[in-house]
Amino acid sequence: MKLREDFLWGGAIAAHQAEGAWQTGGKGVSIADVMTAGANGVPRRITDGVLSYENYPNHEAIDFFNHYQEDIKLFAEMGFKCLRTSIAWTRIFPNGDDEMPNEEGLKFYDDLFDEMLKYGIEPIITLAHFEMPYHLVKEYGGFLNRKCIDFFVRFASVCFERYKDKVKYWMTFNEINNQTHYMSDDEVFRDSGLLFLNNETPLQREQACYQAGHYQLVASALAVQEGHRINPDFKIGCMIAMCPIYPHSCHPNDIMLSVVANHKRDYYTHIHARGYYPAYALEYMKRKEFQIDMTQEDLEILKKGIVDYIAFSYYMSYATKYSHHDKYYDFEQSQDLIKNEYVEASEWGWQIDPEGLRYSLNYFYDLYQLPMMIVENGFGAVDKIEKDGTIQDDYRIDYLRSHILAMKDAVEIDGVDLLGYTTWGPIDIVSAGTGEMKKRYGFVYVDKDNEGQGTLQRRPKKSFYWYQKVIESNGEMI
Ligand code: BG6
Repeated sequence: MKLREDFLWGGAIAAHQAEGAWQTGGKGVSIADVMTAGANGVPRRITDGVLSYENYPNHEAIDFFNHYQEDIKLFAEMGFKCLRTSIAWTRIFPNGDDEMPNEEGLKFYDDLFDEMLKYGIEPIITLAHFEMPYHLVKEYGGFLNRKCIDFFVRFASVCFERYKDKVKYWMTFNEINNQTHYMSDDEVFRDSGLLFLNNETPLQREQACYQAGHYQLVASALAVQEGHRINPDFKIGCMIAMCPIYPHSCHPNDIMLSVVANHKRDYYTHIHARGYYPAYALEYMKRKEFQIDMTQEDLEILKKGIVDYIAFSYYMSYATKYSHHDKYYDFEQSQDLIKNEYVEASEWGWQIDPEGLRYSLNYFYDLYQLPMMIVENGFGAVDKIEKDGTIQDDYRIDYLRSHILAMKDAVEIDGVDLLGYTTWGPIDIVSAGTGEMKKRYGFVYVDKDNEGQGTLQRRPKKSFYWYQKVIESNGEMI
C-alpha cells in the first residue's frame, strides 16, 4: 500500500511562535506573552504580567502576522498541500471571558485561510496551542476552573461557525498529555494555565494536572460535538505528544515499568479515541486519593465527543529502567528516564529515533484503529550561513529523510491509515521550550537571533529544495 494520492504533505507552526503582533488588532495578552526567553537547560520564566524590562520572544516572533503572504508563497513553492497553524485565542476573545468575539481577529484568520486556499493549501487548525488568555489564568486559575470549559467551547464554536467553509481539519488542545504529571512550571503553564505557589506537595501538583486535564478533555469532547453539529464534514482530532517509553531490557520488571510509563502518557488518547477513562487511570487516581471534580454528566460528554482522527507530534523516544519501584511501578518521568545507548541525541538532548515513529504509528493504530496524522516532526539545530549565503542543512535532511522512510514503512508494510505529515517549523520560529530563535527547524531561514536582532528576511535553505522534491514525488524521491 502506497501513501494515499491525497496525502497531506506540509508543515506546522503555532500562532504564538510565529505571528508576533502581540498587541495588534485588539489582541489580548496570552500566556505566551508573559514567558521570557530561556536557553538550553535554562527554563523560561513566567512573569506576573508583561514587564517592560523583560525579553519576551513571542511578542514579535517572526512577525508572520505581517509576512504571511510572503511565507505562504514560499510554502506553495515547496508544494505544500496543507499548513497546520493555530488560532490565537486572544485575537478572538482577548480576555477569554468577553461577551463578544473580536471582529478584527476573526478577519485576520479569514484573510490567512484565504491566502492558503488561493494556493490549494488546506488549513489544518489547532484551537489551543499553548496560548490561552492570560486573564483566564489570573482571574480563574486557568483550567483548574470548570468555567474555562465554557470559555473554550465558546471560542471553538465561534471559530467553527466562522470558518466552516474554509477549514475541514481541526484539533482541540495541542499536546494535551504533556501535563500528565507535573514536570515543570512552564510546561503545565503552557498546557493549561496552571500556576503553582511552590508550597504544594508533588502529589497536590499531580492532582492539579489530572484535574485540569479532565476539564480540558470535557471541553474537547464538547467542542467535537459542537463542531460536528456545525459542519458534519469536519474532521476533528486530538493532539498528543508521542514519546514512546521503551523498557531498558527484556527483564520483566523493565517491561512492566514501560507499560505503566506509557499508560501515564497515553490515557488522554484513550479518552479522546474511546470516550472513557481507562481502568488503569481510574485506579491510579483512586489509589493516590486524588479529589477530582468529575461528574456523571462529564462522563456522558466524553462518550459523545470521540475524535475523528489522532494527530500527534513525534520528535524522540525515551527509555526507562526498573530500580526502586514496587508492584505499583509508579513511574516518574522526571526521575525514571534513562539514556538510550542505541540512539544519538540532538544538541538539545532529544534522542533521535526514526524507528520510534513507525513504532508510534503502530502503537496508536493497534489500540484505536483511527486514521492518524503526524502533525509535528523535525530537527531543531543551529544553522550556519555559508560565505555564499547558502545554508547547507544536511543534518536536517538526514533527520527528516529517516523519519519519512520509517513513516512509509508503517503505511506500506504495516498498513496504518495515515492522512498526512507536517514537519514542525517549516520556517524558523521561536522555540516553545526554550524561547530561543537559534533552535531552528525551518526549510526557510529567518534572520533573527536570540536577542531579537535581525532583519526578519527569509531565505530558503538546502532542505527547502529537498522537501520540494519529496512532496512532488509523493515521498518517492527521498
Ligand atoms: C512541540 C510543540 O512540543 O514541540 C511546539 O507543540 C514546539 O509548539 C515543538 O515548538 C518543538 O519544541 P521546541 O521546544 O524545540 O520549540
